[in-house]
Amino acid sequence: MILVNDSLVPDSKARVSVLDRGYYFGDGVYEVFRIYQGILFEKEAHLARLMRSAREARIALPCGVDELGTRIGKLLAANGIESGTLYVQITRGEAPRAHPFPEYTAPVLTGWCSELQRPYRAMQLGIRAVTVADIRWHRCDIKTLNLLPNVLAKQEAIDRGADEAIFLRNGIVTECSASNLMTVREGVIHTHPADHHILHGITRSVVLKLAEKAGIRLHECRFSLDQLYEADEVFMTGTTSEITPVVQIDDKTIADGSAGPVCRMLQKAFEEYAGLS
Ligand code: PDD
Repeated sequence: MILVNDSLVPDSKARVSVLDRGYYFGDGVYEVFRIYQGILFEKEAHLARLMRSAREARIALPCGVDELGTRIGKLLAANGIESGTLYVQITRGEAPRAHPFPEYTAPVLTGWCSELQRPYRAMQLGIRAVTVADIRWHRCDIKTLNLLPNVLAKQEAIDRGADEAIFLRNGIVTECSASNLMTVREGVIHTHPADHHILHGITRSVVLKLAEKAGIRLHECRFSLDQLYEADEVFMTGTTSEITPVVQIDDKTIADGSAGPVCRMLQKAFEEYAGLS
């Protein structure tokens, strides 16, 4: 079942207009929630980020946050998925194509659920990444539909025989195409500050909280490609990637090419926190 505004409809009947601004301008915002054991993980944090994205993009909400939570809950219940994702987007609405905000239109809310298994193999063995230029705009903190740079980066990674792309902006490592990035150097976790050049990941903040609780030192700071290559550990965090070690970057093997102890410890702590172990 698909959510279209305030209704749940079978996917064969779910329709939005080709004149929706999300379709021709990417004029909308979205969220991806993780479903673990039939429950939305960090639901409130995702809802809060969706509200913030809409506010920053100056897109009106189709309803209040409580009602939005209720509609998302009904979408989840109607699909009966145990392990997967729930996607929702809000666009500025349907109007003839013109850049200014249309005067008379209502935002369009759509959403659906998909099955997804946890990335066991990648979490165990690690993945290979390549670095690519971060050609995105300067508001990467807004979760907008405009993902063309992310899509191109991911495809470039695949074309170069890797699994993921790591963005570099003016020599600074920002994040991955759909995950945040962390390194461990001399026992300290380093990750890009939550500013306008990265998405403020929900998994990122859970992982930082778990690390702090475990007594691991954190440093939110900018770091270079050389510092990335020389790290003792590199891992990415995200709703779909969870905590996945990165064991090769470009032609460099990270440390001994396997997941490091901090990554392993955080994976375990995350499983406990999410009720997965
Ligand atoms: N992506 N950075 C980017 C660019 C992202 O698109 C995402 C999430 C993240 C991680 O954020 P979180 O931990 O809140 O999932 C970081 C989602 C999953 C996507 O677009 O599919």
